[in-house]
Amino acid sequence: MKIFLDSANIDHIRQAKSLGAIEGVTTNPSLLAREKGDWKKLVRQICKEIDGPVSVEVIATDPADMLAEARDLVKIAPNVVVKVPVTLDGLKVIHELHQRGIETNATLVFSANQALLAAKAGAGYVSPFIGRLDDIGQDGMQVVQDIMTVFRNYDLSTQVLAASIRHVNHFLQAALLGADAATVPLAVLLDLVKHPLTDIGLAKFLDDWAKR
Ligand code: E4P
Repeated sequence: MKIFLDSANIDHIRQAKSLGAIEGVTTNPSLLAREKGDWKKLVRQICKEIDGPVSVEVIATDPADMLAEARDLVKIAPNVVVKVPVTLDGLKVIHELHQRGIETNATLVFSANQALLAAKAGAGYVSPFIGRLDDIGQDGMQVVQDIMTVFRNYDLSTQVLAASIRHVNHFLQAALLGADAATVPLAVLLDLVKHPLTDIGLAKFLDDWAKR
């Protein structure tokens, strides 16, 4: 499973990169809005920092405007992947961008049906939002499982990017299901390495060594 960082914060991205674990970045309008300064410069900086796909979302909702934004986004850097929401207009845009050879990430996916349509339209990635489904009492991981099953049934090459991951168990379950990628905030990435027995074991080793 590829690991992407779900962040537009350059310090977080650098910190994650230093662990050698991340192979891409996902941003969204909320994450970019939290950061100060010129957002395009920031995206350029992130794209230079990361040798892998960097998802950046269109803001427009009208297909013509979404396409214009997408064309601008891919001019920022060659590793920009255009994030498009799975609305009816979004699907048209994904299809059009696919025909023009522009890679897309279908976002705000909450069902396997949406994911199947996005894959048919030519999306490079689909992003099921696990945490947000859990938030409303549904089983986000079941949707990831359903998408994996449907894509395997029909040998679809669109990658499943598990998103809206809130804790380490989401990450583990996505990996066990065979998701192609998971995008995590820095806090979850750092939690992945923690285990109390590692800390206890290390303290004991150091203690025994100090007594020798
Ligand atoms: C993914 O592409 C999204 O940016 C993200 O995972 C959303 O996560 P949230 O539901 O925690 O905001």
